[in-house]
Amino acid sequence: MKPFIIVPDGFDKNLFKQLQTNSNLEVHPESKVDQSKLKELLPKASGLVIRSATTITPDLLELAPNLKLVIRAGEGTDNIDKKACGAKGVKVANTPGANNNSAAEHAIALMMTVLRKTAEADASMKRGEWEKSKFTGVELADKKIGIIGFGRIGQIVAKRLAGFDPEITFFDPMVEKCDLPYAKKESDLKKIFSSCDIISIHVPLMPATKGMITRELLEAMPAHAILINAARGGLVDEEALVDVLKSNKIRGAGFDVFATEPLDANNKLKDLGNLVMTPHLGASTEEAQVRVGQMAVHQLNEFFVNNNLLNEVKA
Ligand code: 3PG
Repeated sequence: MKPFIIVPDGFDKNLFKQLQTNSNLEVHPESKVDQSKLKELLPKASGLVIRSATTITPDLLELAPNLKLVIRAGEGTDNIDKKACGAKGVKVANTPGANNNSAAEHAIALMMTVLRKTAEADASMKRGEWEKSKFTGVELADKKIGIIGFGRIGQIVAKRLAGFDPEITFFDPMVEKCDLPYAKKESDLKKIFSSCDIISIHVPLMPATKGMITRELLEAMPAHAILINAARGGLVDEEALVDVLKSNKIRGAGFDVFATEPLDANNKLKDLGNLVMTPHLGASTEEAQVRVGQMAVHQLNEFFVNNNLLNEVKA
């Protein structure tokens, strides 16, 4: 019997077609599968290719006795209970680097949107208004930018910002130095939060980083500063974020990721005029999804045909 593969969270159309023609695999014909359908299909599944919409819990694993591999078609694996997978002999892999440029560009897009109030101005225009004086913004050029987490994505952000003549301070216990002449390391997070004009977060979510952007750090930011988060929602104290934005203790924020996704109906973030939100779009570009998809297809083939596990992520 051929390994049965489910791709529940969407996939590049052409690559999905190509995957379906792989004679070594049986691929479920829909590239988007809701939770209840997924539960129905799981007993048959040998492999899953997921994005952030599917959470791999012990309960879900119970329904999948034949599951051998979960590929996270992306970077973050915080939606996969890796310990539970390990206990069941299910391997976990991701597609490292494939969507990183898109995530970095999205963080920069959020910076520009918050600084120039373009989202608010667009909404105002569509209400038939012409409120030029209301939307005076701030330049990105020559700003002090704090990058929290200086791995692949944080470093791309720093490189792409070069044209804006920034002064970058980065925080990352794992990175000692950086070749960019305008970027220097700082180990005191509070110093970064209290001195930068823009803070951009690029840290993976794991037990050690959960809630690391505390109320104390948010309250240390200068009144003119903005906070960008295109990494993970669980990193930031969201209640404190609501408080500092509501009381205008900081200028604004741009968030692509949230503690709960999608947002609950009564989430207070939705009431904030100085917060720009996007629905976890960092990796949602055509280019990123082609790169991610190509890697996932290759990894599926290597694992199920050649018994070769690529890009394993351990608990
Ligand atoms: C990631 O961790 O790869 C990004 O957050 C993108 O997530 P997505 O694939 O669900 O869009």
